[in-house]
Amino acid sequence: MDFEPFALYDWLLEHEDHVKHPLAASGVKSVTLGELGVDPKVLVESDLGYGPLPAHPALRSKVASIYGFPEEKVLITLAGSEADLVSFAAMLKPGDKVVVENPTYPPLRAVPKALGMRVVLHERTWKNKFKLDLAKLDAQLKGAKLFVFTNLNNPTGVSTSPRELEELGEIARRRKCRVLVDEAFRELAFQPPPVAGLRTGWMLGPESVVRRARLAKTYMSIGQAPLEQRIALVALEKRSWLLQRAAALRDQNLSKIKPWMETHGKLRWVTPEGGPISYPRLPDGVDDLAFAQRLLREHSTLVVPGRYQGVRGHFRLGLGADPAPTPGGLEAIDAVLGTRASSKASKPASKPAAKPAPKAAAAKSMREDDLLEEHLGTPGGDV
Ligand SMILES: Cc1ncc(COP(=O)(O)O)c(C=O)c1O
Repeated sequence: MDFEPFALYDWLLEHEDHVKHPLAASGVKSVTLGELGVDPKVLVESDLGYGPLPAHPALRSKVASIYGFPEEKVLITLAGSEADLVSFAAMLKPGDKVVVENPTYPPLRAVPKALGMRVVLHERTWKNKFKLDLAKLDAQLKGAKLFVFTNLNNPTGVSTSPRELEELGEIARRRKCRVLVDEAFRELAFQPPPVAGLRTGWMLGPESVVRRARLAKTYMSIGQAPLEQRIALVALEKRSWLLQRAAALRDQNLSKIKPWMETHGKLRWVTPEGGPISYPRLPDGVDDLAFAQRLLREHSTLVVPGRYQGVRGHFRLGLGADPAPTPGGLEAIDAVLGTRASSKASKPASKPAAKPAPKAAAAKSMREDDLLEEHLGTPGGDV
């Protein structure tokens, strides 16, 4: 199997722990076992055998009750990553046509490709505010076995509404195509972080698919770690608190980032819809990789170059990190784009909206800054 390089992961792994202003993460600042209130007895008393396989029944019941699903339609997995993997394994064969949104979380495209499926991209475009284009999708789903997308979308934070989901369901039924919705960001950012290190996830689906996925999981990982499952149960009991905490962190960041974005002369975005991520668009012609590299090199500030999730000319800006370094990160972005004086990032609300710079002038300053994309085309193209 040929797995394409996981550029997003490599980028985060190499830089995330070494920067002053980490604005790249898609999740929310993690919690400790102490903050979660895990009784130390859980650690001491835990048996290190396999435990019930593939997972503790109490965990499956808990997840089933959250969604109002029968337990037969639930499989506990090694985090969201394994839920995606065993879903592909349960529903697809090599050579099958799979339609995958773009931009997206890269494994959703790379894993079926590596498994030998024929991947066709469904472009979420800037012009269409990164929404799914259901008319176009209808045509693309002809002959497809599966459509894969994220809701909320990673990286844009754009949602697919219940009405759109119903329409999509109709189309998929007519095309005899299954749909895999990766909902890592559905409840804000409950999974992945703030408890991403627990590596506990789940999938829900028709019984026949869950049965096949369970078989695939048995071959791949056998089961869940018992100690983690006990902690995951505590985390699920404290779900409301975790979600409130995540929302508070996101809102603290947004109170700085939203007014800054909305009065920005050079950056634009599709307003993210409640999640911990956003995907601002750079001025035309600015190379997202050169921009991110320069932010890193000169200002110890980390964002994700848009191309690592499928669209050039954008960057992923996280909203769920520790809020303290955020204003400094915004000042760094302004410094690299040659936009505003550095003090403005922390008090944008009182400032009048900055007029967008004329295109030619903006392009000139970018060229001087060595950020102009000479060979890679304009934003919005795929990789
Ligand atoms: C959309 C999406 N799906 C799945 C994952 C993988 O999550 P996990 O850490 O639960 O494996 C991520 C991680 O960021 C994600 O963004």
